[in-house]
Amino acid sequence: MILTETAYAKVNLALHVRARMPDGYHALETLFAFTRFGDTLVAERAETLGLTLEGEYSEAAGPDQDNLVLRAARALAPDLGARLHLTKRIPVAAGLGGGSADAAAALRLLNRLWGLNRPIEDLEAIGAMLGADVAACIRSETVRGSGRGELLEFAPPVTDTPILLVNPRVAVPTGPVFKGWDRTDRGPLPEGGTLEAALIGRNDLEAPALAIAPVIADVLAWLQVQPGAGLTRMSGSGATCFALFVDDAAAQAAARAVPNGWWATATQLR
Ligand code: C5P
Repeated sequence: MILTETAYAKVNLALHVRARMPDGYHALETLFAFTRFGDTLVAERAETLGLTLEGEYSEAAGPDQDNLVLRAARALAPDLGARLHLTKRIPVAAGLGGGSADAAAALRLLNRLWGLNRPIEDLEAIGAMLGADVAACIRSETVRGSGRGELLEFAPPVTDTPILLVNPRVAVPTGPVFKGWDRTDRGPLPEGGTLEAALIGRNDLEAPALAIAPVIADVLAWLQVQPGAGLTRMSGSGATCFALFVDDAAAQAAARAVPNGWWATATQLR
């Protein structure tokens, strides 16, 4: 039996950083949305646990990536084996939650492969121990997150919304970006509909990410002037930025016009 799961790339439609907590993590309020684009994880039963990688970002993913997928597997069932194969398409250290999505996909996949029938709430709780974004990645549906990002509340879906993801091929590690936040609380995420709240909202990590990778300003400026582009913002701790588009044709036209050297994918929210 061979089973497959997609590890859907995450975007933060808005990300409000509210406070630095004593443990160094940050209290935040965010609107998570997920794209149809992602990594592919395949598994079959085996005596021992093992992971192989392929794809554009498999080398960049390196041993840490192994660890998150394998750590997810061990957290679910320490004694069971599986042969896992990950096709890594999501850029690494990019604000798209790739590692978190892989861990969440591993939990969903192995729950099925091993016939454990653990409820989705259990997978979310295990996920929350692996990383701040992993709980949201279990369902991979539009959701409000608070706490470190692991406390999840309903948000209306924005399914089929065309989106273009653009990354200037600069890896930006998450920790230093959070560290660079100026510790100024600019207020909560607005209530209401997902896109309405996102439009009024912000990404408070844009300024500290820009300080580390100034090219992010060029990506945002480029996205803003593409025909049909609406909400334009950086995702997570960057450097990937996105624009929502009026239709798929406009998103695909912008994807074809992306400057040489930048990574881009036109897709839809799910
Ligand atoms: O939880 P995760 O491993 O994905 O987080 C990566 C890093 O991002 C943490 O080590 C921390 O420095 C930072 N972070 C934070 N506050 C959050 C989430 C992440 O400071 N709410």
